[in-house]
Amino acid sequence: MRQSSLVVVANRLPLDDNVAPDGACEWRRSPGGLASALHAILESTPATWVGWGGGVGPAPPLADIGTLRLRPVPLTEDELRGYYEGFANSTLWPLYHDAVEQPVFDRGWWETYRTVNRRFAEAAAEVAEPGAAVWIQDYHLQLVPQMLRELRPDVLIGFFMHVPFPPPELFMQLPRRLELLRGMLGADLVGFQRPQAAHNVAQLAGKLLGAKGADDAILFDGRVVRTGAFPVSIDVTEMEALNARPYVVNQARQLRHDLGLHKKVLLSVDRLDYTKGIEHRLTAYSELLRDGRVKVRDVVMVQVAVPSRERVESYRGLKDRIESEVGRINGEYGRVGQPAIHYLNQPFDRADLAALYQTADVMVVTPLRDGMNLVAKEYVAARADDTGALVLSEFAGAANELEDAFQVNPHDVDGLKETLLRALVAEPADLSRRMAAMRAHITENDIHAWARAYLTALDHSGQLARHLPRQREALAPRA
Ligand code: ADP
Ligand code: F6P
Repeated sequence: MRQSSLVVVANRLPLDDNVAPDGACEWRRSPGGLASALHAILESTPATWVGWGGGVGPAPPLADIGTLRLRPVPLTEDELRGYYEGFANSTLWPLYHDAVEQPVFDRGWWETYRTVNRRFAEAAAEVAEPGAAVWIQDYHLQLVPQMLRELRPDVLIGFFMHVPFPPPELFMQLPRRLELLRGMLGADLVGFQRPQAAHNVAQLAGKLLGAKGADDAILFDGRVVRTGAFPVSIDVTEMEALNARPYVVNQARQLRHDLGLHKKVLLSVDRLDYTKGIEHRLTAYSELLRDGRVKVRDVVMVQVAVPSRERVESYRGLKDRIESEVGRINGEYGRVGQPAIHYLNQPFDRADLAALYQTADVMVVTPLRDGMNLVAKEYVAARADDTGALVLSEFAGAANELEDAFQVNPHDVDGLKETLLRALVAEPADLSRRMAAMRAHITENDIHAWARAYLTALDHSGQLARHLPRQREALAPRA
């Protein structure tokens, strides 16, 4: 078995659906923030990625993608249901997102979650060379840090939570809260999107485990577990290169023509997920149309909602509700050749997403709760001319950083309506000042800065981050 000095462990391998018979495959960037974020880093860093390759049954061997080795972890149909659709996405996901949907506590799912976490830990232990760094990602694999420490005490273990980590009142509802907390604290460094999450963990560690802790370190099991906020970001250089591509420029021009040259375009791009606040947003837009404060001859909305977790009950119900609401809005307010809203339930490639971002006058990112939300940052990166308005939920991690967005509480539909109107009529000079400030922030704090900060905090020496492009190189245009 070939071993690596850097191992990434995440639920999914970043693969497209076209694995050739000889195992050759290509990166699948999205949808989803995790693959988008790690793409930029692992493109140039020798590493092994341990993850589920999609589908069920034995995993076929996979060829390397450039310098990245792939170590697939197989799942059975029962495991897919109990671990991924069940415990990860019907228990932890809703609970970690403020319980905006009722978490399901099914006792049968726990054993499967544990079994699958152990399989990931064993796979990571196999491919990590002596003294390697193993970087475990997200809520699917919260038990892996501790399991891996038992198997391989020699390796350096990092854990990063891409989603919010909830306040103690919510976490305490989990029947398996002790095991989940202990599992995560098996890492040497536990990273979160926001400082509040590290504070929540310190409180819980004191309360549940009697551990001594502050917001940057917890003394547990005779070890110091460091914690902290490392807000994830995007590949700004890649976005800038996309912006300049003739295809993207032409596509944006065509979209603008198709949507209406004189109309203001509102755009939302989400996975079809109940945390993204799509229903609240549609209610606000529909009421603005009803009250005549927005007219279809002046404004059009584009809602991209890429299919996600389609076998999970709460996602199916959401899709049905959204599609019926979009039909109602178009039925009531649309005109022949002038729909009030374009609804696109499909994946897009990066270039087409960039063209959409270039076309949007107002980007509406209003999740009820979100770890970060990379779409908000992608929009900012796409506005090279400092035009456009970003309406951003206070409950997205990105709100901590993008203070010049039009921030809004998405639960307050009246407030959301007023904010949409403010963004629609804002003066160009105001928009330009806001956008320039946000662009400066994400340019400085891009995905390379994130990886560098995390990996340097993990190994102290800077060794792990040595393959990452430096800020200046990252900003130089790529061939
Ligand atoms: P999450 O991780 O919850 O999905 P993020 O906003 O952080 O949310 O990340 C979503 C990622 O998926 C972004 O990089 C975005 O560009 C991508 N994405 C969203 N919608 C689509 C789509 N329809 N097609 C392709 N990629 C998408
Ligand atoms: O962090 C959010 C997350 O769960 C990521 O792990 C993943 O990239 C994304 O959402 C998409 O989810 P899924 O892998 O369930 O399609």
